[in-house]
Amino acid sequence: MRILIIQFSGTGNTRRIAEVLRQEFEDNGAESRIIPMEHITLGKITPDYAGWDIVGIGFPVHAMDAPAIVYDFIGTLPKSATRYFLFKTAGSTTFNAGSTYNIRHKLALLGWKLIHEQLYEMPPNAFGTANPKKVNKRYFKARALAIKTAAEILGGVNSRLADPMIRNLLYRFAALEKHGAQQSSKRWIVSSACTLCGICVENCPTENIHIEEGKLLFDDKCLLCLRCWWNCPARAISHTFLKPFFLKEPYILPNDNDISEETNG
Ligand SMILES: Cc1cc2nc3c(=O)[nH]c(=O)nc-3n(C[C@H](O)[C@H](O)[C@H](O)COP(=O)(O)O)c2cc1C
Ligand code: SF4
Ligand code: SF4
Repeated sequence: MRILIIQFSGTGNTRRIAEVLRQEFEDNGAESRIIPMEHITLGKITPDYAGWDIVGIGFPVHAMDAPAIVYDFIGTLPKSATRYFLFKTAGSTTFNAGSTYNIRHKLALLGWKLIHEQLYEMPPNAFGTANPKKVNKRYFKARALAIKTAAEILGGVNSRLADPMIRNLLYRFAALEKHGAQQSSKRWIVSSACTLCGICVENCPTENIHIEEGKLLFDDKCLLCLRCWWNCPARAISHTFLKPFFLKEPYILPNDNDISEETNG
């Protein structure tokens, strides 16, 4: 069994779940590989989907939907009868963190067959609080679910998330957020603490950040994934009006072998 996992992750939650799934697949005799979604949307990689038995697609929930990059990625996919599973991470499970109807629909039009779908409640990377105890508790619960999910996928168990009744309303909210992300793209600000190290430039999934004449400039392709803000070693990045919704500072997910600390309370 060969399982390819394609994931987008702004701040590491989705990537960590992808890593747990990959490890579980491998520990149970399957071959598995993870590809960051932006490597595909930026044209760095074109996977040979026919060479894989199952493809997993993972992303963080943004405004009860997927970030725009997920739709861009689906636009790159070939028509085929590929079996796929979906996984999404969110800061809350309210309304199943939105609907994947539009994603499933687009993939169905390409002939792709959904075999499994799972939502993982992870620490919120914005719009909330993330003290270390909550971060650890959420992570280890999600990790246990990912281990179960991997067994289900390998065992051929089908599963699908129910669509919230207010799906259309949620999609309208999501459209507003996508518009807002683009509109606010140039509202990132950089303080004098910036060392021009280039980390944010190299890692932005839409190549939205450039250095010109010793200054950091943002284009209009922001996904609000927060990766630049999260990973800046100088804590030099801020946002003119979204700052109040950000966490005080980025959290660090626990190592898998820290579980004894978590269970001990
Ligand atoms: C712009 C933005 C919008 C978000 N919207 C939601 C949301 O609607 N519902 C939710 O439960 N979490 C929401 N979140 C929280 C993330 O989905 C959650 O923390 C996710 O695990 C982050 O994954 P990542 O680290 O892979 O980027 C949002 C986060 C951001 C940055
Ligand atoms: S990561 Fe931070 S310090 Fe480095 S270039 Fe970007 S803003 Fe400047
Ligand atoms: S500018 Fe920052 S928040 Fe926007 S897409 Fe790039 S890394 Fe993500």
